[in-house]
Amino acid sequence: MPLPKLPGTPVEDSRPADLVVIGGGIAGLSVAYEAIQKGRHVTILDRGPIASGMTARTTAHLMSVLDDRYYEFIALRDEAQAQLLYESLVTAIDRIEEIAGRESIECDFQRCDGYLFLGEGDTPDILEKEFDACRKIGFDGVDWEARAPMPAFDSARCLRFARQGRFHPLKYLQGLARAILTKGGVLRPYTAVDEVIQDGATVAVKTRNGQTIMARDVVCATNAPIAGRLTLQAKMAPYRTYAMAFEIAKGSVEDALYWDTLDAYHYVRLRPGDERDWLIVGGEDHKTGEADDAPARFDNLERWTKQRFGQVGAVTHTWSGQVLEPVDFAGYVGRDPDNDHIYFVTGDSGQGITNGVVAGLLIPALFDGGDHPWRALYDPARVSLKATGTFLSENSTAVKSLVEHLGGPLLDTEESLQPGQGGLVRDGVNVIAVYRDEAGTPHRVSSKCSHVWCTVHFNSFERCWDCPCHGSHFDIDGNALNAPATAPLASIDDKSGRSS
Ligand SMILES: Cc1cc2nc3c(=O)[nH]c(=O)nc-3n(C[C@H](O)[C@H](O)[C@H](O)COP(=O)(O)OP(=O)(O)OC[C@H]3O[C@@H](n4cnc5c(N)ncnc54)[C@H](O)[C@@H]3O)c2cc1C
Ligand code: FES
Repeated sequence: MPLPKLPGTPVEDSRPADLVVIGGGIAGLSVAYEAIQKGRHVTILDRGPIASGMTARTTAHLMSVLDDRYYEFIALRDEAQAQLLYESLVTAIDRIEEIAGRESIECDFQRCDGYLFLGEGDTPDILEKEFDACRKIGFDGVDWEARAPMPAFDSARCLRFARQGRFHPLKYLQGLARAILTKGGVLRPYTAVDEVIQDGATVAVKTRNGQTIMARDVVCATNAPIAGRLTLQAKMAPYRTYAMAFEIAKGSVEDALYWDTLDAYHYVRLRPGDERDWLIVGGEDHKTGEADDAPARFDNLERWTKQRFGQVGAVTHTWSGQVLEPVDFAGYVGRDPDNDHIYFVTGDSGQGITNGVVAGLLIPALFDGGDHPWRALYDPARVSLKATGTFLSENSTAVKSLVEHLGGPLLDTEESLQPGQGGLVRDGVNVIAVYRDEAGTPHRVSSKCSHVWCTVHFNSFERCWDCPCHGSHFDIDGNALNAPATAPLASIDDKSGRSS
């Protein structure tokens, strides 16, 4: 599955910035596209190439189904907000279809059914409660089926949801990027942003290469927010999720979306090809930094797939990525409560594609003090008192991280690290993050995340350092790969572990 090339040449632009969008994933490009329709001049900045973040790793189920369940959402928020949430997800899928048609984007967009079936050990009341909740909020396209169309497995009674969808996310973003350029937008890849500061009616965007860009409005579409209060980040928890693609005989599996009810759930879709199809299967999530056993997780995924879809062919791709789980089951999309010219899109959960498209529809409506019926639903400043328990349990990670720094599972010496391995090494009062490369050379950086202070953990599958607190990732030399961190991990002067 070769990935399409996206527009990626750095562009110099001397016009004063009107709207700066930071982040060139589904959220950033959707906001940029919609803002241009409203007459704004948009500059998009990204630390790397356009579409190189989590959108490049998505399995791209386009769902009006809520993966956290509508009955859970109604219990935490209320029925009226659940209706709005459903409406926003339906509108987002429709909008992708509309834009793909209008801009002639060949992105394999396809409507299909989605099947929700019981996970091992789960009881039928989950499906019954969800069916009732869907009917209450006007989600009429849900119905019972005797079993899901999985060749090798009797799922028992399950729910079928009509008018879900799938597409090729990178082909879609490529088309969107082209449309943005054609309409006068500016794409500036390889431009990392360090700081976003509002001063009066303008916002200063400070880049890593020393530029300051002044803008009327700024949208942080960096997946995790790089500005604003820490409380926003504390309302989400980062989870690593795993995915793999299997070759299968053409037409052997119905073109649909499949999910079980487990927490973490398995998610499956088809990618049709000319001579063969691929089955893309994901799941086996864990809290970021709390496991480093990707091979075992892929084995589990493969076993699970074969039990349900029969003898699938060769595994052609394996990958992982991160999702941010909001405590009250909806993303955070809207105005920064402290700065009226700064906007956020985050809290994507497993539905970040539709969340990004929702941002495109919602944020431009909020410019210049505007309003939108979805504003309160997605308001980044909202507090859900009923989600306090989840908030507290997710934030215990920060406490664990401190304990670990003081005396957690640390190596006495880096000598025990084999080539390709990384680990935390105690050195006096310091803890150093050390990776030994294939040539045997150690790469030493501070283990303290540059975002706040949590201890980073080695991820041997991705060969990077992951922060369990808010989901920053760093390469083996400490450079930030994923927000919210913008600065690198501090370098270590010498083996004593003093960080510079
Ligand atoms: C394996 C997997 C499966 C998934 N499956 C689904 C699914 O089936 N359906 C679904 O809806 N969602 C799914 N998701 C979630 C969804 O893919 C993501 O939530 C979504 O792509 C996030 O889009 P985004 O634009 O917010 O972030 P990203 O695509 O990560 O874009 C953010 C951009 O910001 C840039 N950036 C970050 N910091 C800075 C900085 N300081 N300066 C400049 N640029 C910066 C990054 O380089 C990046 O390009 C899945 C995710 C994963 C990992
Ligand atoms: S991401 Fe916040 S402390 Fe590391």
